[in-house]
Amino acid sequence: MKEEKTIKSMFDRIVKRYDFLNHFLSFGQDFFWRKKMAKISSKNAERFILDLATGTADSALALIERDIKVVGVDISFEMLKFGKRKIEKRKKNRSFFPISASAYQLPFKDKSFDAVTCAFGIRNMHKTKIALEEIYRVIKPGGRVIILEFSLPQGVFKKLYLLYLKFIPFIASLFSVSSAYEYLSSSIRSFYKPEEFIELLQSCGFKNIKAFPLNFGCVHLYSGEKI
Ligand SMILES: C[S@@+](CC[C@H](N)C(=O)[O-])C[C@H]1O[C@@H](n2cnc3c(N)ncnc32)[C@H](O)[C@@H]1O
Repeated sequence: MKEEKTIKSMFDRIVKRYDFLNHFLSFGQDFFWRKKMAKISSKNAERFILDLATGTADSALALIERDIKVVGVDISFEMLKFGKRKIEKRKKNRSFFPISASAYQLPFKDKSFDAVTCAFGIRNMHKTKIALEEIYRVIKPGGRVIILEFSLPQGVFKKLYLLYLKFIPFIASLFSVSSAYEYLSSSIRSFYKPEEFIELLQSCGFKNIKAFPLNFGCVHLYSGEKI
């Protein structure tokens, strides 16, 4: 995994084509994944959510559409700026509070949020356990973490998916910085398996952990409670 500084400058550089490539490379499925995360996040009447690694604010928007107030944290100032403009265009700025900060040292008091969401961010955090412990710290007792992340499917789909991951940098090079998408492919291949990630969540104190595979296991939606 790359260091935080490298990750930050990588996302700063790819921001312009980030949304387009997300939708293109996922065949539009990313809308569905974020909506699903927002639906689960709003189940327990959670009203004040930290969206960690908020990026260009697509997950934040899905949450705001459910009347949730969102604090969006990211280390990439360019991604945050882009997201903030998107929210302003939709006149939702009263529900979104962007903050530039690191997941390893969240600038919030203990027990500040009803829930923390993180879509496709945790894979980029090389100090994964520290980030999860910070998430745990800022959640109120009774609150939840909801994490969306890529994973490798099993069985016949695995080979096909690995082949697709090989092609991603080439497709992306037509529109953006290909090295960032080489990193995307390699980080998906090397990220925790779902069962390992569940163990990690448990070791950080989360209980009642659930993992839902989406799109044949190419993505997992994890949720865990702080009791
Ligand atoms: C793949 S993007 C996901 C953005 C958004 N959540 C989405 O679903 O499109 C990953 C984001 O994580 C942010 N990020 C990576 N490491 C971080 C860290 N240590 N602290 C805060 N944000 C981080 C990056 O700057 C980037 O915006």
